[in-house]
Amino acid sequence: MKIHEYQAKEILRQYGVPTPRGIPCFSVDEAVLAGQTLASPVVVVKAQIHAGGRGKGGGVKVAKTPTELHTYAEQIFGMNLVTHQTDSHGQKVRRLLIEEGADIKKELYVGMVVDRQSQRVALMASPEGGMDIEEVAARNPEKIMTIFIDPVEGLTLDQCLAVSKFIGIESDLWSQSAQLLQGLYQAFDEKDASLAEINPVVVTGDKRVLALDAKMNFDSNALYRHPEIVGLRDLDEEDPSEIEASRFDLSYISLDGNIGCLVNGAGLAMATMDIVKLYGGSPANFLDVGGGATTEKVTEAFKLMLKNPHLEAILVNIFGGIMKCDVIATGVVEAAKQVHLSVPLVVRLEGTNVELGKQILAQSGLPIISANNMAEAAQKVVDAARG
Ligand SMILES: Nc1ncnc2c1ncn2[C@@H]1O[C@H](COP(=O)(O)OP(=O)(O)OP(=O)(O)O)[C@@H](O)[C@H]1O
Ligand SMILES: [Mg+2]
Repeated sequence: MKIHEYQAKEILRQYGVPTPRGIPCFSVDEAVLAGQTLASPVVVVKAQIHAGGRGKGGGVKVAKTPTELHTYAEQIFGMNLVTHQTDSHGQKVRRLLIEEGADIKKELYVGMVVDRQSQRVALMASPEGGMDIEEVAARNPEKIMTIFIDPVEGLTLDQCLAVSKFIGIESDLWSQSAQLLQGLYQAFDEKDASLAEINPVVVTGDKRVLALDAKMNFDSNALYRHPEIVGLRDLDEEDPSEIEASRFDLSYISLDGNIGCLVNGAGLAMATMDIVKLYGGSPANFLDVGGGATTEKVTEAFKLMLKNPHLEAILVNIFGGIMKCDVIATGVVEAAKQVHLSVPLVVRLEGTNVELGKQILAQSGLPIISANNMAEAAQKVVDAARG
C-alpha cells in the first residue's frame, strides 16, 4: 500500500526524522492560508499524488511571494499531472503540500527496501540525490552504497557513520545524519514498510540535515496490525477496477493491452501474459481468480474485464487441480450469459474433469473458441483480437 509524501513525513517526524514544516491542503484557498500560517519567505507548492517524478512533471514549484504561491496552487491543484510513472492521461492532483522552502546546499539520497536474497533490509545511499537518481543508478552505480541491516542489532552507529561519510556529510553533522538514518530504519521496521525513500535528504545553509521528500510503501500482508496506516489509504489514487476486484478477493491489475486474461493461479497468470506477448498480443490485465473460484467470482471477473473500453478478446486459461474443469466451465458459461459477452472468448482447460468441462462449453451454444494448449490458445486469442 502506498501513501502520500505529507503522510510519510508525518510518520517520519514521529521517529525523530527532521523535515521542513508543511501543511497538507485540499483546496487553493487552504493553500493560500497555509502560506500565511507558515510565514516563510519561500514556500514550496507540492502536488500530492502516489506516482513519482512529480518535480519533473511540473508538480513541485517554489514560490517567493504570496502571489506566486496563489498562481502555483491554482496551476497545480486539479491538474492532471503526467510523470514517467503515470499513464499518458496523468493523475489528477487533489491534495497539495505547502511547505517551508529549504536553503539547499546538498541533495543526497537514502532509501530502504526489503532484500529477499539476504532476508534483510537493504539501505542504499548516494551523494547524488535529487530528481535524477535513476540515471545515477544506471550510469554510475559506484556512486550508490548498499548495506544490509541485521534485524537483531538494527542500524548501528558504525553503519550510520560509514553511510554519512560516503554521501559526503561533514563530521559536525554526523549526529544529525545518524538520527535521520536510525529514525528512518525504526519507522520502516515498526510500520512494516516494504520501501522507504528520502530523495533528497538535504544539508541546508544553516547546517541542518532534513528529509525534503519522503516515500513509504507498506507490506499489505502486515496491514492487519496497522489500522493507523490503513486509515491513510487514498482510494482516489487507486485504479477503480483494482478496488472493485479486491472486494471480490480477485487479484487484478490493469494493463495497457486489449486481451483480457482470466487465469487461476498467479504463476499461470504470469505465464499466460508472457505467451500472449510471444504471439504478438498485448494483455489488458493480470487476473488471478484463485484456486477456489465460484460462479459468482468468475462472473465478477468477466464484468471487470468488460468494463475496459480497449478490450477486444478474452482468454480464459485454467489448469484444474483442486478446481475442477467442469466447475470452471459452468462458471464461464453462466458468466458469459449474464454479462452479454461482446468480444470473442477463447478457453483453454486442462486437468481434473477436463473432458466434462469441454463438453459443457461445447453444449452451451455460446460462440466459445476452444484451444487444447497454451500456444494454440494464445495464437487464437491474438487472431481473434485482430478481428
Ligand atoms: N521544501 C523544499 N524547499 C526547497 N526545495 C524543495 C523543497 N521540496 C522540494 N524541493 C526541490 O524540488 C525537488 C523535487 O521535490 P521532491 O523530491 O519532493 O519531488 P520529486 O522527487 O520530483 O517527486 P517524486 O518523489 O514523486 O519523484 C527537490 O529535489 C528539491 O530540489
Ligand atoms: Mg524526490
